[in-house]
Amino acid sequence: MNILFATSEAVPLAKTGGLADVAGALPKALNKRGVDTRVVLPKYDEIPAALIGQFEQVAHFTVSFSWRNQYCGLLRAEFDGVIYYLIDNEHYFKRKGLYGYGDDAERFVFFCFAVMEAVRYMDFHPDIVHCHDWQTGLIPFLLKTRYYYDPAWAYTKSVFTIHNLKYQGLFGIDLLMDLLGVGYDMFQADSLEFHGAGSCMKGGLVYADKLTTVSSTYAEEIQTEYFGEKMDSLLRYRSQDLIGIVNGIDDELFDPMNDRALEVPYRDSLSRKRKNKVELQRELGLPLSEDIPLVGIVSRLVEQKGFDLIAATLEELLLQEDVQFVLLGAGDAKYEQFFNDMTYRYPDKFKVWIGYDDRLARRIYAGSDIFAMPSQFEPCGLSQLLALRYRSVPVVRETGGLKDTVQAYNEYTGEGNGFSFANYNAHDYMYTMRRALALYRNEEVWKQIVSNGSNEDYSWNRSAKAYISVYSQLLAHRKEKES
Ligand code: ADP
Ligand code: GLC
Repeated sequence: MNILFATSEAVPLAKTGGLADVAGALPKALNKRGVDTRVVLPKYDEIPAALIGQFEQVAHFTVSFSWRNQYCGLLRAEFDGVIYYLIDNEHYFKRKGLYGYGDDAERFVFFCFAVMEAVRYMDFHPDIVHCHDWQTGLIPFLLKTRYYYDPAWAYTKSVFTIHNLKYQGLFGIDLLMDLLGVGYDMFQADSLEFHGAGSCMKGGLVYADKLTTVSSTYAEEIQTEYFGEKMDSLLRYRSQDLIGIVNGIDDELFDPMNDRALEVPYRDSLSRKRKNKVELQRELGLPLSEDIPLVGIVSRLVEQKGFDLIAATLEELLLQEDVQFVLLGAGDAKYEQFFNDMTYRYPDKFKVWIGYDDRLARRIYAGSDIFAMPSQFEPCGLSQLLALRYRSVPVVRETGGLKDTVQAYNEYTGEGNGFSFANYNAHDYMYTMRRALALYRNEEVWKQIVSNGSNEDYSWNRSAKAYISVYSQLLAHRKEKES
């Protein structure tokens, strides 16, 4: 079985969030199970030079879309048993960062067309092209339209995974018509049109053979109006083809026993873990203490992640509790300003580090006792899984993948690996955080909660099998049609 992952980010090459973790780890897990899975993504300027140096160019060709003819180089390298292809065009991708440019529509339409063409030059015929989020949403569309009879794509099926329904790649219809070289007939309610705009994500949601999303709860939620981002009726219509498969983490890449970012390796020993807390406090200039509970947050600073709840309750918690908070993140200016201000006002209790920093992230997972993630919505969430892996107890809201991976501690049965609350409400969050802080003082109970978390398997073991079963179903169906 040959699977081609088309994605806009993948570890170890380029990352802004969880999509990169998934596109890095899942192909590895699939390959280990005998599924030849390869990954194609743009050649961004951000990709570390040491990694770029390992690629070799295998082809170059022209990508024609509408009236444009653009150069495209195809590079290939292998890391950790996975073959990666890069789509090279400096005009589109030799820039700072990955996204957020005025011409993102053109950049990712180019990428989709480039993938369609690149397959001619790969020593690999994909049985399935597995696309992720809006940046690759137009690939299933192209596969069912312009490339339908193209021999390079003969018999290929498509899977589209929704990592976050909120980001849909919406652009003007005129612009997308001009980029795709198609007419208004492709911008109807049953094709790419979305409330008067053109939607790249609909290219996936309407045209892919199977839809998946990254947890069972989110798969249910997005079929409702509240979480559906105005796509809920389409998702209900396609509910037979939509399945939720919870993400895993790469437990080799994230292993507190073997993590170069940490001073003291550990697995289950809380006393060794707490030595890493002291190192983190030292690095950030907080008072040194193994005993004070430290709450960590590593996140994009956006509304989705529950920062309104965190901001509304932070001062009260800092004033009333013996606690330290450490926050690493970058995003909306209003949150950056607020948390900078709090760092200035409570230098002994609160530290924010604005930016993206993989090393500090690992040190926070290891150095924190509690990990806060009170998201408004959360398709899956990897941070709470990483927290569990590093024995930091998650405090989460019961939504999406958080609901599927964190079970609230029950003091009567002793079960549960974290703390959770249901309503998106600042006081419910604060009450839950206070409960976690209180139980932290009870060493026996705390050890129990941590050990409940450590007994579970958060790797890709289970979910890789679930993807293989989705692929197999599609291919079985294909065989039925062929015969
Ligand atoms: P999302 O993809 O919505 O941002 P996830 O929880 O799925 O959320 O994944 C986030 C990933 O990005 C995790 O691996 C997390 O550790 C990492 N991350 C988020 N913000 C930062 C940051 N500022 N610095 C380093 N890593 C970060
Ligand atoms: C998105 C979601 C996050 C998920 C990640 C990987 O960024 O916000 O919940 O874990 O994709 O699937």
